[in-house]
Amino acid sequence: MTRVLGIFQDKGGVGKSVTCRGLAEVVPGAPVIEIDSSPRLFELGKRVTFFQTRADREAIELSGGAASRAEFDQVIDAIASATLPTVIDVGANTGASLMTVIAGLREDFAAAGIEFGVLVVTTAEPGALAEVPKLLSVAAPWAAARFVIENRVKGQVDPKLLLKIASGATVSCLLNQVMDEKAAAIMQAGGLASIAKLDAKALHTKFGIAQGSRIRRDLTRVRLEVMQAVRPAAEWLIAK
Ligand SMILES: Nc1ncnc2c1ncn2[C@@H]1O[C@H](COP(=O)(O)OP(=O)(O)OP(=O)(O)O)[C@@H](O)[C@H]1O
Ligand SMILES: [Mg+2]
Repeated sequence: MTRVLGIFQDKGGVGKSVTCRGLAEVVPGAPVIEIDSSPRLFELGKRVTFFQTRADREAIELSGGAASRAEFDQVIDAIASATLPTVIDVGANTGASLMTVIAGLREDFAAAGIEFGVLVVTTAEPGALAEVPKLLSVAAPWAAARFVIENRVKGQVDPKLLLKIASGATVSCLLNQVMDEKAAAIMQAGGLASIAKLDAKALHTKFGIAQGSRIRRDLTRVRLEVMQAVRPAAEWLIAK
């Protein structure tokens, strides 16, 4: 069986792509499938296969019929032909629909040798939290493993509530990452992949020793903390 891990959360901006980037760092050989309205994981280069979704999901659903049913055909075919542990970054407003399609094809995927893991990312925002039990329950019949990352970028989720909504899943946490403004700009431009390649001397020359060191420390810490947060899911992904 080939393991495929999908990162889901219909709410935008909760840290799905950061999570995907962390998995790409932890499992360097894993191909990445990116589903979004426009490509973003540029730094991963040829590892990424990009599929465009219409940003306006409501319009697709309202239109019904062939257009909506065929929307994920190429994505489904790409997943089914995976031969290496693969990560899917499922863009906002797409997760629940894609999950429904996968659920309907669960036997076909099993026959194709694909085993699914589902990773739901949430922040403390009510809109994101509400998605967690919904997505986990849709995934329950066909996902071999389920994970939740509590991203504390918008504060901490009440632990009792988290335990309840993430029932059945392995939960890990990503702290809010405070970093130097310049560090944030470097991460924005090069993702996590650029961090291990940072040249300390070049940073010192450009920003001075004090800020240059701070930028490098901040970015190194952020990369490690994201890698820690994705560790349970990464271990499942590569266990076979
Ligand atoms: N724990 C964190 N600490 C600091 N910044 C964070 C944290 N998590 C995410 N971010 C930042 O928040 C922004 C949104 O994150 P990201 O792009 O991963 O979200 P997303 O869920 O993929 O969004 P979309 O739904 O648009 O695809 C990014 O700039 C990211 O660097
Ligand atoms: Mg994203």
